[in-house]
Amino acid sequence: MSGERAADVRSIGIIGAGKAGVAIARRALAAGHRVHIAASGPPRRTGLVTRVLLPTAVPVSAEELPAVSDVVFVCVPLRHWRTLPTEKWRGRIVVDVMNYWPPVDGILPEFETAARSSSEIVRDGWPSSVRLVKTFNHIGYHDTEERARPAGAPDRVALGVAGDDRAAVATVAAVVDDLGFDPVDIGPLSAGAALQPGRELFGALLGRTEFRAAIGRTPEHHDRDPRPAAHVSAAERLPSQERDTSNMTSPPGGIRPAQASPAFVMLAPNEGMGVCGVDGECS
Ligand SMILES: NC(=O)c1ccc[n+]([C@@H]2O[C@H](COP(=O)([O-])OP(=O)(O)OC[C@H]3O[C@@H](n4cnc5c(N)ncnc54)[C@H](OP(=O)(O)O)[C@@H]3O)[C@@H](O)[C@H]2O)c1
Repeated sequence: MSGERAADVRSIGIIGAGKAGVAIARRALAAGHRVHIAASGPPRRTGLVTRVLLPTAVPVSAEELPAVSDVVFVCVPLRHWRTLPTEKWRGRIVVDVMNYWPPVDGILPEFETAARSSSEIVRDGWPSSVRLVKTFNHIGYHDTEERARPAGAPDRVALGVAGDDRAAVATVAAVVDDLGFDPVDIGPLSAGAALQPGRELFGALLGRTEFRAAIGRTPEHHDRDPRPAAHVSAAERLPSQERDTSNMTSPPGGIRPAQASPAFVMLAPNEGMGVCGVDGECS
């Protein structure tokens, strides 16, 4: 299966049954998708973890996941990125939800020193036919669950979507819309750097108009070539982007401004629950 339009996406695969994976899976189930989920162990063990939080999700092995999924979300700590069964993902639409987060991942030199975005490094290390898209990495798992809204809600939050494969971006953007957020196509994977930890948009809960304004201020936006016409039209065909958002505002106590980026709650192995700010400091 490989969906090209939202209507084709019926089945969502999630690799990683932790905080981010479970939150996205719950949104996908609420939107009416079938959900298959894999973690690092056998499906029976994954089922023990998911049967309470995700009783209707189907546990499978990581190897089986792409065959039963239109879109696969990768929600594992980045330090595991080279150990995933990516040979099975050739030709598939795969969403990189991962962040380089040293308090959890330790120091990964290639992500410390590279000028490229983390998703470009991942793309270059996985089979070239994997159709990689970056999104959902810049919203905390609790906000994925709590801030989802139906299309048209005045306090609907925007999520950036980046990818080099424009059809895959359009498909994933439609899934983002389904899951309760306004997708904003921000361009290629290189532009996804603007969604990484430490950047203004990381953890920011903005409406689409504010999100686009923030993207417009990023160096990635200024550095890249003008988008080809096909790129623009694909994005503008998205259902939620056809709505008039000129009156979208952030209500008091509603969408938080970028300057007040919330902390992400991360569970570091063997360290218990901690709250990590965008500066990487954890308590
Ligand atoms: N937490 C957030 O709010 C948030 C928000 C956005 C993005 N992210 C990103 O999402 C990723 C996951 O974060 P998290 O907080 O959800 O982590 P987490 O709660 O620690 O969960 C990690 C999950 O990944 C699984 N896993 C680890 N290695 C695996 C492998 N080789 N194959 C398959 N599954 C594997 C683990 O399964 P086992 O237990 O079986 O090992 C576990 O289910 C990170 O890159 C993080 O930066 C997190």
